[in-house]
Amino acid sequence: MTYARIIGTGSYLPEKILTNQDLEQIVETSDQWIQERTGIRQRHVAAEGQSCSDLATIAAQRALDAAGVTAADIDLIVLGTCTPDRVFPSTACLVQHRLGVPGGSPAFDVSAACSGFVYALDVARRYLETGGGKRALVIGAETITRLLDWSDRSTCVLFGDGAGAVVLESGEQPGILSTHLHADGQYEDLLGVPWGISQGFEELNERAGTIEMRGNEVFKVAVRTLGRIVDETLDANGLKKSDVNWLVPHQANVRIIAATAKKLDMPMERVVVTVGEHGNTSAASIPLALDAAVRDGRIQRGELLLLEAFGGGFTWGSALIRY
Ligand code: UT7
Repeated sequence: MTYARIIGTGSYLPEKILTNQDLEQIVETSDQWIQERTGIRQRHVAAEGQSCSDLATIAAQRALDAAGVTAADIDLIVLGTCTPDRVFPSTACLVQHRLGVPGGSPAFDVSAACSGFVYALDVARRYLETGGGKRALVIGAETITRLLDWSDRSTCVLFGDGAGAVVLESGEQPGILSTHLHADGQYEDLLGVPWGISQGFEELNERAGTIEMRGNEVFKVAVRTLGRIVDETLDANGLKKSDVNWLVPHQANVRIIAATAKKLDMPMERVVVTVGEHGNTSAASIPLALDAAVRDGRIQRGELLLLEAFGGGFTWGSALIRY
């Protein structure tokens, strides 16, 4: 049996921090409301001119360093984002060149909003398991604050920028045990950016290029759906809730995270929570959280990790990983 195993993690957060107090100066909101409803205290914001590939390249280099490999060892790059540098080339191609990964190996983006990293992980692990290379870089990177309407308090307080990455290597040692992906396009109006290139630039007004979300409805579907995927993931592996050492969830809202932890009968000490410091960084949130807990020594080799995500589409997914 061939597995894809995580051999290194890395992440990057832009320098600029926007606190809840800063937001109180921009829209009618309060630190208390934001913390109570979401758990967010601050978020990072990409500097002017800093692109998604800039963030991704730093995170990816840190993952390569942690893995003890070089760019020349990488056979595949899969990058999850909904805020790419350009329409094309893909952000993965830009990162490939900037890192110095030899040209010729495949590099592409996947678009699954906040589930982008789990989707990318699924694709990359299947490549490695079926002989499509020895090592892959899997990246989640977003400059999602570029998509915010800074006069809409219901969305602008929620999001932040960042990037996270893992290096996967194929081998016989267990690593990613299973991945589970889902999508349901009927919810297109609950969460999204209502404009895209094919609508033409005449349709692009100030509002059309920004995130719109019916938060409360999204919240309810997210809690219900993530509860289901926990069961699906454990059942597929014949494992019990108590076998899981760490929950590494998508960081949208601490109340959603707590509901999933409850479903797992898991105390919050075993849940990696970064939403307070990062806000919702969309596809970057899981690899950012994973890297934080690996670097501070919480997550140890051999432990069982459950990753789960939910986002626009709707898309959702999970990964069960022997780290
Ligand atoms: O990552 C992809 C998936 N995204 C998610 O999973 C996000 C899911 N949704 C959520 O996290 C929550 O629904 C929110 C944090 C977005 C909102 O929390 P909520 O408890 O669902 O609040 P709500 O939308 O029901 O709004 C409650 C009130 C409203 O006022 P009224 O109508 O009750 O008078 C809003 O106008 O809070 C008001 N409000 C605010 N007040 C202060 C909305 N945004 C703000 C704000 N500051 N920033």
